[in-house]
Amino acid sequence: MFKASLTVDRDFPLAPLDRRLFGVFVEHLGRGVYDGIHEPGHPTADALGFRQDVMALTRELGATLVRYPGGNFMSGYNWEDGVGPLAERPRRLDLAWFSTETNQVGTHEFMHWCRAVGITPMFGVNLGTRGPDEARHYLEYCNHPGGTALSDLRRQHGAENPLGVKFWCLGNEMDGPWQICQKTPDEYGRIAKETAKLMRWVDPSIELAACGSSAYDMPTYGHWEDRVLEHCFEQVDYLSLHSYFVKPPADDSTESFFAQIETNARYIEDTVAICDAVATRKRSAKRLMLSFDEWNVWYRARHGEHLRQAGWPVAPRLLEEVYTLEDALLIGGMLTMFMNHADRLKVACMAQLCNVIAPIMTEPGGPAWRQTIFHPFAQAARWARGEVLRSVLRSPGYAHARHGELPYLCASVVDDAATGRTAVFVLNRHLTDAMDLTITLRGLGGERRLVAAEQLHGPDLHASNTRAAPDRVAPIPLDGVCIDGEQLRATLPPASWAVLVTESPRA
Ligand code: AHR
Repeated sequence: MFKASLTVDRDFPLAPLDRRLFGVFVEHLGRGVYDGIHEPGHPTADALGFRQDVMALTRELGATLVRYPGGNFMSGYNWEDGVGPLAERPRRLDLAWFSTETNQVGTHEFMHWCRAVGITPMFGVNLGTRGPDEARHYLEYCNHPGGTALSDLRRQHGAENPLGVKFWCLGNEMDGPWQICQKTPDEYGRIAKETAKLMRWVDPSIELAACGSSAYDMPTYGHWEDRVLEHCFEQVDYLSLHSYFVKPPADDSTESFFAQIETNARYIEDTVAICDAVATRKRSAKRLMLSFDEWNVWYRARHGEHLRQAGWPVAPRLLEEVYTLEDALLIGGMLTMFMNHADRLKVACMAQLCNVIAPIMTEPGGPAWRQTIFHPFAQAARWARGEVLRSVLRSPGYAHARHGELPYLCASVVDDAATGRTAVFVLNRHLTDAMDLTITLRGLGGERRLVAAEQLHGPDLHASNTRAAPDRVAPIPLDGVCIDGEQLRATLPPASWAVLVTESPRA
Protein backbone atom coordinates (compact mmCIF):
# COMPACT_ATOMS: atom_id res chain seq x y z
CA MET A 1 0.00 0.00 0.00
CA PHE A 2 1.28 3.48 -0.80
CA LYS A 3 -0.10 6.91 0.02
CA ALA A 4 -1.31 9.51 -2.51
CA SER A 5 -3.33 12.69 -2.25
CA LEU A 6 -5.57 14.79 -4.44
CA THR A 7 -6.52 18.35 -3.50
CA VAL A 8 -8.91 20.78 -5.17
CA ASP A 9 -10.17 24.16 -4.07
CA ARG A 10 -13.49 25.77 -4.98
CA ASP A 11 -11.58 28.98 -5.76
CA PHE A 12 -9.34 27.30 -8.35
CA PRO A 13 -11.61 26.23 -11.23
CA LEU A 14 -10.19 25.27 -14.60
CA ALA A 15 -13.23 25.64 -16.87
CA PRO A 16 -16.84 24.55 -17.28
CA LEU A 17 -16.98 20.99 -18.55
CA ASP A 18 -18.49 20.85 -22.04
CA ARG A 19 -20.81 17.86 -22.06
CA ARG A 20 -19.89 17.31 -25.70
CA LEU A 21 -16.74 15.63 -24.34
CA PHE A 22 -18.95 12.54 -24.13
CA GLY A 23 -19.51 12.21 -27.86
CA VAL A 24 -19.36 9.05 -29.97
CA PHE A 25 -18.99 8.26 -33.65
CA VAL A 26 -21.14 6.30 -36.10
CA GLU A 27 -19.53 5.64 -39.48
CA HIS A 28 -20.79 3.69 -42.47
CA LEU A 29 -18.09 1.11 -41.84
CA GLY A 30 -18.38 -2.62 -41.26
CA ARG A 31 -21.31 -3.31 -38.94
CA GLY A 32 -21.38 0.19 -37.43
CA VAL A 33 -24.67 1.08 -39.13
CA TYR A 34 -26.04 -1.98 -40.99
CA ASP A 35 -26.30 -5.01 -38.67
CA GLY A 36 -25.34 -2.59 -35.90
CA ILE A 37 -27.62 0.27 -34.92
CA HIS A 38 -29.85 -0.68 -37.90
CA GLU A 39 -31.20 -4.18 -38.42
CA PRO A 40 -34.77 -4.17 -39.79
CA GLY A 41 -35.39 -7.87 -39.08
CA HIS A 42 -34.32 -7.71 -35.44
CA PRO A 43 -37.01 -8.38 -32.79
CA THR A 44 -36.35 -4.96 -31.20
CA ALA A 45 -36.31 -2.99 -34.50
CA ASP A 46 -38.48 0.13 -34.63
CA ALA A 47 -40.56 1.22 -37.64
CA LEU A 48 -37.43 2.40 -39.50
CA GLY A 49 -35.41 -0.70 -38.65
CA PHE A 50 -33.28 0.67 -35.80
CA ARG A 51 -32.54 -1.68 -32.92
CA GLN A 52 -34.13 -0.35 -29.74
CA ASP A 53 -31.89 -2.48 -27.53
CA VAL A 54 -28.91 -0.58 -29.00
CA MET A 55 -30.74 2.71 -28.52
CA ALA A 56 -31.28 1.85 -24.84
CA LEU A 57 -27.58 1.01 -24.39
CA THR A 58 -26.58 4.25 -26.14
CA ARG A 59 -28.74 6.17 -23.67
CA GLU A 60 -27.20 4.23 -20.79
CA LEU A 61 -23.74 5.04 -22.17
CA GLY A 62 -24.74 8.69 -21.77
CA ALA A 63 -23.38 9.79 -25.16
CA THR A 64 -24.29 13.42 -25.81
CA LEU A 65 -23.11 13.94 -29.40
CA VAL A 66 -22.61 11.69 -32.43
CA ARG A 67 -20.28 12.25 -35.38
CA TYR A 68 -21.66 10.97 -38.71
CA PRO A 69 -21.33 9.59 -41.45
CA GLY A 70 -17.51 9.11 -41.32
CA GLY A 71 -14.50 8.91 -40.99
CA ASN A 72 -12.83 7.86 -44.16
CA PHE A 73 -16.27 7.03 -45.60
CA MET A 74 -17.08 10.74 -45.62
CA SER A 75 -14.44 11.46 -48.28
CA GLY A 76 -16.31 9.48 -50.95
CA TYR A 77 -19.90 10.03 -49.81
CA ASN A 78 -22.64 11.59 -51.95
CA TRP A 79 -25.23 12.86 -49.47
CA GLU A 80 -27.84 12.87 -52.26
CA ASP A 81 -27.62 9.04 -52.42
CA GLY A 82 -28.97 8.85 -48.86
CA VAL A 83 -32.17 10.87 -49.23
CA GLY A 84 -35.47 10.18 -51.02
CA PRO A 85 -37.38 6.92 -51.48
CA LEU A 86 -35.43 3.90 -50.20
CA ALA A 87 -36.16 1.83 -53.29
CA GLU A 88 -34.52 4.42 -55.54
CA ARG A 89 -31.31 4.77 -53.57
CA PRO A 90 -28.18 3.63 -55.41
CA ARG A 91 -25.82 0.93 -54.24
CA ARG A 92 -22.26 2.24 -54.48
CA LEU A 93 -18.73 1.00 -54.04
CA ASP A 94 -17.30 2.46 -50.85
CA LEU A 95 -13.60 2.95 -51.57
CA ALA A 96 -12.80 3.76 -47.94
CA TRP A 97 -13.64 0.27 -46.66
CA PHE A 98 -13.93 -1.73 -49.91
CA SER A 99 -17.55 -2.50 -49.15
CA THR A 100 -20.92 -2.00 -50.88
CA GLU A 101 -22.92 0.90 -49.49
CA THR A 102 -26.67 0.33 -49.88
CA ASN A 103 -27.70 3.83 -48.73
CA GLN A 104 -30.67 2.39 -46.85
CA VAL A 105 -29.64 4.63 -43.97
CA GLY A 106 -29.06 8.27 -44.85
CA THR A 107 -29.64 11.72 -43.42
CA HIS A 108 -33.32 11.38 -42.46
CA GLU A 109 -33.03 7.88 -41.02
CA PHE A 110 -30.01 8.94 -38.97
CA MET A 111 -31.81 12.04 -37.68
CA HIS A 112 -34.71 9.79 -36.66
CA TRP A 113 -32.21 7.63 -34.70
CA CYS A 114 -30.68 10.73 -33.04
CA ARG A 115 -34.08 11.99 -31.95
CA ALA A 116 -35.13 8.58 -30.65
CA VAL A 117 -31.90 8.26 -28.63
CA GLY A 118 -31.84 11.93 -27.55
CA ILE A 119 -28.38 12.68 -28.94
CA THR A 120 -27.06 15.68 -30.89
CA PRO A 121 -25.75 15.05 -34.43
CA MET A 122 -22.39 16.35 -35.67
CA PHE A 123 -22.24 15.98 -39.44
CA GLY A 124 -19.33 16.04 -41.85
CA VAL A 125 -18.97 17.19 -45.44
CA ASN A 126 -17.04 15.41 -48.16
CA LEU A 127 -13.90 17.39 -48.98
CA GLY A 128 -12.29 14.37 -50.67
CA THR A 129 -14.06 13.66 -53.96
CA ARG A 130 -16.24 16.76 -53.58
CA GLY A 131 -15.94 20.28 -52.26
CA PRO A 132 -17.52 23.62 -51.31
CA ASP A 133 -20.45 23.38 -53.72
CA GLU A 134 -21.81 20.08 -52.39
CA ALA A 135 -21.08 21.16 -48.82
CA ARG A 136 -23.16 24.32 -49.10
CA HIS A 137 -25.93 22.36 -50.84
CA TYR A 138 -25.99 19.70 -48.13
CA LEU A 139 -26.19 22.37 -45.43
CA GLU A 140 -28.96 24.18 -47.32
CA TYR A 141 -30.86 20.88 -47.62
CA CYS A 142 -30.51 20.23 -43.88
CA ASN A 143 -30.87 23.65 -42.27
CA HIS A 144 -32.58 26.15 -44.59
CA PRO A 145 -36.24 26.64 -43.62
CA GLY A 146 -37.77 26.44 -47.12
CA GLY A 147 -38.50 28.25 -50.37
CA THR A 148 -35.45 26.94 -52.28
CA ALA A 149 -35.15 23.82 -54.40
CA LEU A 150 -32.99 21.99 -51.84
CA SER A 151 -34.87 22.97 -48.69
CA ASP A 152 -38.17 22.16 -50.40
CA LEU A 153 -36.76 18.79 -51.43
CA ARG A 154 -36.11 18.09 -47.75
CA ARG A 155 -39.72 19.01 -47.00
CA GLN A 156 -40.92 16.71 -49.78
CA HIS A 157 -38.87 13.99 -48.12
CA GLY A 158 -40.95 14.43 -44.97
CA ALA A 159 -38.93 16.90 -42.89
CA GLU A 160 -41.02 20.08 -42.85
CA ASN A 161 -38.78 21.73 -40.26
CA PRO A 162 -35.05 22.30 -40.71
CA LEU A 163 -32.93 19.52 -39.26
CA GLY A 164 -30.92 22.10 -37.32
CA VAL A 165 -27.51 20.41 -37.52
CA LYS A 166 -25.20 22.86 -35.75
CA PHE A 167 -21.76 21.22 -35.76
CA TRP A 168 -19.99 20.32 -39.02
CA CYS A 169 -16.63 18.69 -39.74
CA LEU A 170 -14.82 20.02 -42.80
CA GLY A 171 -13.72 16.66 -44.20
CA ASN A 172 -11.80 13.89 -42.45
CA GLU A 173 -8.08 13.12 -42.01
CA MET A 174 -7.18 14.91 -45.23
CA ASP A 175 -3.43 14.47 -44.57
CA GLY A 176 -3.62 10.66 -44.67
CA PRO A 177 -2.37 8.74 -47.75
CA TRP A 178 -5.26 6.28 -47.11
CA GLN A 179 -7.80 9.06 -47.52
CA ILE A 180 -9.91 9.24 -50.67
CA CYS A 181 -8.31 12.32 -52.30
CA GLN A 182 -5.58 13.14 -49.79
CA LYS A 183 -4.54 16.79 -49.87
CA THR A 184 -1.50 18.87 -49.10
CA PRO A 185 -1.97 21.30 -46.21
CA ASP A 186 -2.19 24.22 -48.63
CA GLU A 187 -4.76 22.46 -50.81
CA TYR A 188 -6.83 21.50 -47.77
CA GLY A 189 -6.41 24.82 -45.97
CA ARG A 190 -7.69 26.72 -49.02
CA ILE A 191 -10.67 24.41 -49.59
CA ALA A 192 -11.55 24.40 -45.88
CA LYS A 193 -11.51 28.18 -45.87
CA GLU A 194 -13.76 28.54 -48.93
CA THR A 195 -16.11 25.78 -47.77
CA ALA A 196 -16.43 27.34 -44.31
CA LYS A 197 -17.13 30.74 -45.86
CA LEU A 198 -19.96 29.41 -48.03
CA MET A 199 -21.42 27.27 -45.25
CA ARG A 200 -21.53 30.22 -42.85
CA TRP A 201 -23.24 32.34 -45.47
CA VAL A 202 -25.92 29.65 -45.73
CA ASP A 203 -26.28 29.30 -41.94
CA PRO A 204 -24.31 31.68 -39.69
CA SER A 205 -25.32 29.74 -36.56
CA ILE A 206 -23.18 26.67 -37.31
CA GLU A 207 -19.86 25.67 -35.74
CA LEU A 208 -17.05 24.30 -37.90
CA ALA A 209 -14.09 22.02 -37.24
CA ALA A 210 -11.08 21.87 -39.56
CA CYS A 211 -8.99 18.68 -39.86
CA GLY A 212 -5.82 18.60 -37.87
CA SER A 213 -3.35 15.79 -38.50
CA SER A 214 -4.83 12.31 -38.44
CA ALA A 215 -2.44 11.38 -35.61
CA TYR A 216 0.18 12.96 -33.36
CA ASP A 217 2.87 10.71 -34.86
CA MET A 218 2.20 11.66 -38.48
CA PRO A 219 5.51 12.94 -39.86
CA THR A 220 3.74 16.10 -40.97
CA TYR A 221 2.17 16.83 -37.54
CA GLY A 222 2.73 20.45 -36.63
CA HIS A 223 3.53 21.64 -40.13
CA TRP A 224 0.09 20.46 -41.26
CA GLU A 225 -1.71 22.34 -38.44
CA ASP A 226 0.31 25.49 -39.02
CA ARG A 227 -0.23 25.64 -42.80
CA VAL A 228 -3.91 24.65 -42.65
CA LEU A 229 -4.63 27.33 -40.05
CA GLU A 230 -2.63 29.91 -41.99
CA HIS A 231 -5.47 29.62 -44.54
CA CYS A 232 -8.62 28.99 -42.49
CA PHE A 233 -7.92 30.25 -38.94
CA GLU A 234 -10.51 33.04 -39.14
CA GLN A 235 -13.20 30.82 -40.67
CA VAL A 236 -13.21 27.84 -38.26
CA ASP A 237 -13.98 27.33 -34.57
CA TYR A 238 -12.24 24.03 -33.82
CA LEU A 239 -9.27 22.00 -34.93
CA SER A 240 -9.61 18.21 -34.82
CA LEU A 241 -7.33 15.63 -33.19
CA HIS A 242 -7.48 11.85 -33.70
CA SER A 243 -5.73 9.24 -31.61
CA TYR A 244 -5.85 5.46 -31.38
CA PHE A 245 -4.05 3.93 -28.42
CA VAL A 246 -1.81 0.99 -29.24
CA LYS A 247 0.45 -1.66 -27.75
CA PRO A 248 3.47 -1.99 -30.02
CA PRO A 249 5.05 -5.50 -29.87
CA ALA A 250 8.41 -3.88 -29.06
CA ASP A 251 6.98 -2.33 -25.87
CA ASP A 252 3.76 -4.01 -24.84
CA SER A 253 3.98 -3.37 -21.09
CA THR A 254 0.90 -2.12 -19.26
CA GLU A 255 3.00 0.72 -17.81
CA SER A 256 3.78 2.01 -21.33
CA PHE A 257 0.19 1.43 -22.43
CA PHE A 258 -0.97 3.66 -19.57
CA ALA A 259 1.70 6.26 -20.39
CA GLN A 260 -0.32 7.12 -23.50
CA ILE A 261 -2.36 9.34 -21.17
CA GLU A 262 0.65 11.68 -20.97
CA THR A 263 1.38 11.30 -24.71
CA ASN A 264 -2.12 12.45 -25.53
CA ALA A 265 -1.95 15.27 -22.99
CA ARG A 266 1.14 16.47 -24.84
CA TYR A 267 -0.73 16.10 -28.14
CA ILE A 268 -3.47 18.42 -26.84
CA GLU A 269 -1.02 20.93 -25.34
CA ASP A 270 1.18 21.00 -28.45
CA THR A 271 -1.87 21.52 -30.66
CA VAL A 272 -3.09 24.37 -28.45
CA ALA A 273 0.40 25.90 -28.75
CA ILE A 274 0.28 25.74 -32.56
CA CYS A 275 -3.22 27.26 -32.67
CA ASP A 276 -2.10 30.10 -30.40
CA ALA A 277 1.12 30.62 -32.37
CA VAL A 278 -0.97 31.09 -35.52
CA ALA A 279 -3.22 33.49 -33.60
CA THR A 280 -0.17 35.46 -32.49
CA ARG A 281 1.22 35.59 -36.03
CA LYS A 282 -2.13 36.89 -37.23
CA ARG A 283 -2.36 39.41 -34.34
CA SER A 284 -5.64 37.76 -33.41
CA ALA A 285 -7.24 37.49 -29.98
CA LYS A 286 -9.33 34.55 -31.18
CA ARG A 287 -8.69 31.24 -29.42
CA LEU A 288 -9.45 28.08 -31.36
CA MET A 289 -10.95 25.20 -29.42
CA LEU A 290 -10.16 21.52 -29.95
CA SER A 291 -12.37 18.67 -31.11
CA PHE A 292 -10.86 15.26 -30.29
CA ASP A 293 -13.34 13.67 -32.63
CA GLU A 294 -11.81 10.18 -32.87
CA TRP A 295 -10.24 8.41 -29.91
CA ASN A 296 -10.12 4.90 -28.55
CA VAL A 297 -7.93 1.84 -28.08
CA TRP A 298 -7.36 0.16 -31.48
CA TYR A 299 -4.50 -2.20 -32.18
CA ARG A 300 -5.79 -5.77 -32.49
CA ALA A 301 -8.38 -5.65 -35.29
CA ARG A 302 -6.27 -3.28 -37.35
CA HIS A 303 -4.75 -5.38 -40.11
CA GLY A 304 -5.64 -7.77 -42.94
CA GLU A 305 -9.24 -8.99 -43.04
CA HIS A 306 -10.12 -6.67 -40.13
CA LEU A 307 -9.61 -3.78 -42.54
CA ARG A 308 -10.60 -5.15 -45.93
CA GLN A 309 -12.46 -8.20 -47.22
CA ALA A 310 -12.77 -9.44 -50.80
CA GLY A 311 -15.92 -9.21 -52.92
CA TRP A 312 -17.26 -5.77 -51.92
CA PRO A 313 -19.43 -7.16 -49.08
CA VAL A 314 -22.28 -5.30 -47.40
CA ALA A 315 -21.57 -4.71 -43.69
CA PRO A 316 -18.58 -7.04 -43.26
CA ARG A 317 -17.11 -7.62 -39.80
CA LEU A 318 -14.40 -4.95 -39.77
CA LEU A 319 -12.48 -3.37 -36.86
CA GLU A 320 -14.34 -5.55 -34.32
CA GLU A 321 -11.91 -5.03 -31.47
CA VAL A 322 -12.68 -7.02 -28.31
CA TYR A 323 -11.73 -4.89 -25.31
CA THR A 324 -10.16 -5.89 -22.01
CA LEU A 325 -10.16 -4.58 -18.47
CA GLU A 326 -6.74 -3.06 -19.20
CA ASP A 327 -8.30 -1.09 -22.08
CA ALA A 328 -11.13 0.10 -19.82
CA LEU A 329 -8.63 1.40 -17.26
CA LEU A 330 -6.80 3.36 -19.96
CA ILE A 331 -10.11 4.80 -21.18
CA GLY A 332 -10.89 5.95 -17.64
CA GLY A 333 -7.48 7.58 -17.28
CA MET A 334 -7.81 9.22 -20.68
CA LEU A 335 -11.17 10.70 -19.65
CA THR A 336 -9.58 12.26 -16.55
CA MET A 337 -6.96 13.82 -18.83
CA PHE A 338 -9.63 15.13 -21.22
CA MET A 339 -11.50 16.73 -18.31
CA ASN A 340 -8.26 18.33 -17.12
CA HIS A 341 -7.99 20.07 -20.53
CA ALA A 342 -11.56 21.36 -20.46
CA ASP A 343 -10.40 24.94 -20.99
CA ARG A 344 -9.55 24.17 -24.66
CA LEU A 345 -11.00 20.74 -25.34
CA LYS A 346 -14.72 21.14 -25.95
CA VAL A 347 -15.66 18.12 -28.05
CA ALA A 348 -14.51 14.49 -28.03
CA CYS A 349 -15.95 11.45 -29.79
CA MET A 350 -15.13 7.94 -28.73
CA ALA A 351 -14.61 6.04 -31.99
CA GLN A 352 -16.94 4.43 -32.52
CA LEU A 353 -20.31 3.40 -31.01
CA CYS A 354 -21.43 -0.01 -32.24
CA ASN A 355 -19.44 -3.09 -33.34
CA VAL A 356 -16.62 -1.07 -34.98
CA ILE A 357 -13.96 -0.34 -32.26
CA ALA A 358 -16.97 0.13 -30.06
CA PRO A 359 -18.36 0.12 -26.52
CA ILE A 360 -21.50 -1.70 -27.75
CA MET A 361 -21.50 -5.04 -29.61
CA THR A 362 -24.40 -6.79 -31.33
CA GLU A 363 -25.19 -10.08 -32.98
CA PRO A 364 -27.65 -10.12 -35.89
CA GLY A 365 -30.96 -11.42 -34.57
CA GLY A 366 -29.31 -11.75 -31.15
CA PRO A 367 -28.30 -9.72 -28.12
CA ALA A 368 -26.40 -6.47 -27.66
CA TRP A 369 -23.86 -6.15 -24.86
CA ARG A 370 -21.48 -3.72 -23.19
CA GLN A 371 -17.75 -4.04 -23.87
CA THR A 372 -15.40 -3.26 -20.96
CA ILE A 373 -14.77 0.29 -22.22
CA PHE A 374 -18.48 1.05 -21.97
CA HIS A 375 -18.25 1.35 -18.19
CA PRO A 376 -15.74 4.17 -17.51
CA PHE A 377 -17.33 6.21 -20.31
CA ALA A 378 -20.84 5.72 -18.91
CA GLN A 379 -19.72 6.56 -15.38
CA ALA A 380 -17.95 9.74 -16.47
CA ALA A 381 -20.83 10.81 -18.74
CA ARG A 382 -23.27 10.28 -15.89
CA TRP A 383 -21.42 12.06 -13.10
CA ALA A 384 -19.15 14.70 -14.72
CA ARG A 385 -21.31 17.80 -14.66
CA GLY A 386 -20.40 21.39 -13.84
CA GLU A 387 -16.96 22.87 -13.54
CA VAL A 388 -13.60 21.09 -13.68
CA LEU A 389 -11.41 22.08 -10.73
CA ARG A 390 -7.62 22.25 -10.90
CA SER A 391 -6.29 19.08 -9.28
CA VAL A 392 -3.08 19.03 -7.29
CA LEU A 393 -1.75 15.46 -7.10
CA ARG A 394 0.88 13.99 -4.82
CA SER A 395 1.75 10.44 -5.73
CA PRO A 396 4.81 8.28 -6.12
CA GLY A 397 5.41 7.23 -9.67
CA TYR A 398 7.24 5.03 -12.14
CA ALA A 399 9.97 5.79 -14.61
CA HIS A 400 9.05 5.97 -18.27
CA ALA A 401 11.56 6.33 -21.11
CA ARG A 402 9.66 9.07 -22.92
CA HIS A 403 7.90 10.93 -20.13
CA GLY A 404 10.24 10.55 -17.15
CA GLU A 405 8.52 10.01 -13.79
CA LEU A 406 4.78 9.30 -14.13
CA PRO A 407 2.53 9.45 -11.05
CA TYR A 408 0.59 6.27 -10.31
CA LEU A 409 -2.42 8.48 -9.67
CA CYS A 410 -4.42 10.05 -12.52
CA ALA A 411 -7.45 12.05 -11.43
CA SER A 412 -9.99 14.73 -12.24
CA VAL A 413 -12.62 16.50 -10.18
CA VAL A 414 -15.83 18.04 -11.50
CA ASP A 415 -18.04 20.11 -9.24
CA ASP A 416 -21.64 21.03 -9.87
CA ALA A 417 -22.50 24.09 -7.78
CA ALA A 418 -26.17 23.77 -8.77
CA THR A 419 -26.61 20.36 -7.12
CA GLY A 420 -23.76 20.54 -4.60
CA ARG A 421 -22.34 17.34 -6.10
CA THR A 422 -18.64 16.75 -6.62
CA ALA A 423 -17.46 13.84 -8.76
CA VAL A 424 -13.92 12.49 -8.40
CA PHE A 425 -12.48 10.17 -11.07
CA VAL A 426 -9.30 8.27 -10.26
CA LEU A 427 -7.01 5.71 -11.85
CA ASN A 428 -4.43 3.77 -9.84
CA ARG A 429 -1.71 2.86 -12.35
CA HIS A 430 0.26 0.80 -9.83
CA LEU A 431 0.02 -2.79 -11.04
CA THR A 432 0.72 -4.53 -7.74
CA ASP A 433 0.08 -2.10 -4.86
CA ALA A 434 -3.11 -0.59 -3.50
CA MET A 435 -3.32 3.19 -3.11
CA ASP A 436 -4.33 4.84 0.17
CA LEU A 437 -5.85 8.00 -1.29
CA THR A 438 -6.77 11.16 0.61
CA ILE A 439 -8.97 13.59 -1.30
CA THR A 440 -9.40 17.14 -0.01
CA LEU A 441 -12.32 19.13 -1.42
CA ARG A 442 -11.55 22.59 -0.07
CA GLY A 443 -14.41 25.04 0.16
CA LEU A 444 -16.95 22.59 -1.23
CA GLY A 445 -18.87 22.11 2.02
CA GLY A 446 -18.09 20.09 5.11
CA GLU A 447 -21.13 17.96 5.68
CA ARG A 448 -20.61 15.61 2.79
CA ARG A 449 -22.76 12.62 1.93
CA LEU A 450 -21.63 9.76 -0.27
CA VAL A 451 -23.81 9.48 -3.40
CA ALA A 452 -21.86 6.85 -5.36
CA ALA A 453 -18.60 4.93 -5.05
CA GLU A 454 -17.79 2.41 -7.78
CA GLN A 455 -14.67 0.79 -9.12
CA LEU A 456 -13.47 -1.26 -12.06
CA HIS A 457 -10.97 -3.82 -10.94
CA GLY A 458 -10.34 -7.52 -11.39
CA PRO A 459 -7.78 -10.31 -11.14
CA ASP A 460 -7.21 -10.52 -14.90
CA LEU A 461 -6.30 -7.37 -16.83
CA HIS A 462 -6.99 -9.29 -20.06
CA ALA A 463 -10.59 -10.19 -19.13
CA SER A 464 -13.20 -9.25 -21.77
CA ASN A 465 -16.96 -9.15 -22.08
CA THR A 466 -18.39 -11.43 -24.73
CA ARG A 467 -21.79 -12.60 -25.90
CA ALA A 468 -21.46 -15.63 -23.59
CA ALA A 469 -20.14 -13.61 -20.63
CA PRO A 470 -21.37 -10.05 -21.16
CA ASP A 471 -20.85 -8.84 -17.58
CA ARG A 472 -17.49 -10.35 -16.72
CA VAL A 473 -16.05 -6.84 -16.42
CA ALA A 474 -18.50 -4.42 -14.81
CA PRO A 475 -18.41 -1.79 -12.06
CA ILE A 476 -18.55 -3.04 -8.49
CA PRO A 477 -19.01 -1.02 -5.28
CA LEU A 478 -15.94 0.64 -3.79
CA ASP A 479 -16.39 -0.10 -0.10
CA GLY A 480 -14.77 1.60 2.85
CA VAL A 481 -14.86 5.22 1.68
CA CYS A 482 -14.49 7.46 4.77
CA ILE A 483 -15.70 11.04 4.88
CA ASP A 484 -14.35 13.46 7.44
CA GLY A 485 -15.37 17.07 6.85
CA GLU A 486 -13.81 18.16 3.55
CA GLN A 487 -11.72 15.01 3.31
CA LEU A 488 -12.46 11.64 1.76
CA ARG A 489 -10.29 8.57 2.17
CA ALA A 490 -10.42 5.50 -0.02
CA THR A 491 -8.29 2.49 -0.78
CA LEU A 492 -7.93 1.84 -4.50
CA PRO A 493 -6.80 -1.67 -5.46
CA PRO A 494 -3.83 -2.04 -7.79
CA ALA A 495 -4.69 -1.36 -11.46
CA SER A 496 -8.13 0.05 -10.81
CA TRP A 497 -10.41 2.89 -11.80
CA ALA A 498 -12.94 4.48 -9.45
CA VAL A 499 -15.63 7.11 -9.33
CA LEU A 500 -16.56 8.78 -6.05
CA VAL A 501 -19.47 11.17 -5.92
CA THR A 502 -20.32 13.15 -2.80
CA GLU A 503 -22.67 16.03 -2.16
CA SER A 504 -22.92 18.80 0.34
CA PRO A 505 -25.46 21.58 0.83
CA ARG A 506 -23.97 24.85 -0.49
CA ALA A 507 -24.21 28.26 1.12
O1 AHR B 1 -12.54 5.07 -36.95
C1 AHR B 1 -11.98 4.31 -37.99
C2 AHR B 1 -11.22 5.16 -38.98
O2 AHR B 1 -10.07 5.64 -38.36
C3 AHR B 1 -11.92 6.40 -39.48
O3 AHR B 1 -12.74 6.17 -40.58
C4 AHR B 1 -10.78 7.27 -39.88
O4 AHR B 1 -11.08 8.63 -39.79
C5 AHR B 1 -9.65 6.86 -38.95
O5 AHR B 1 -8.47 6.66 -39.64
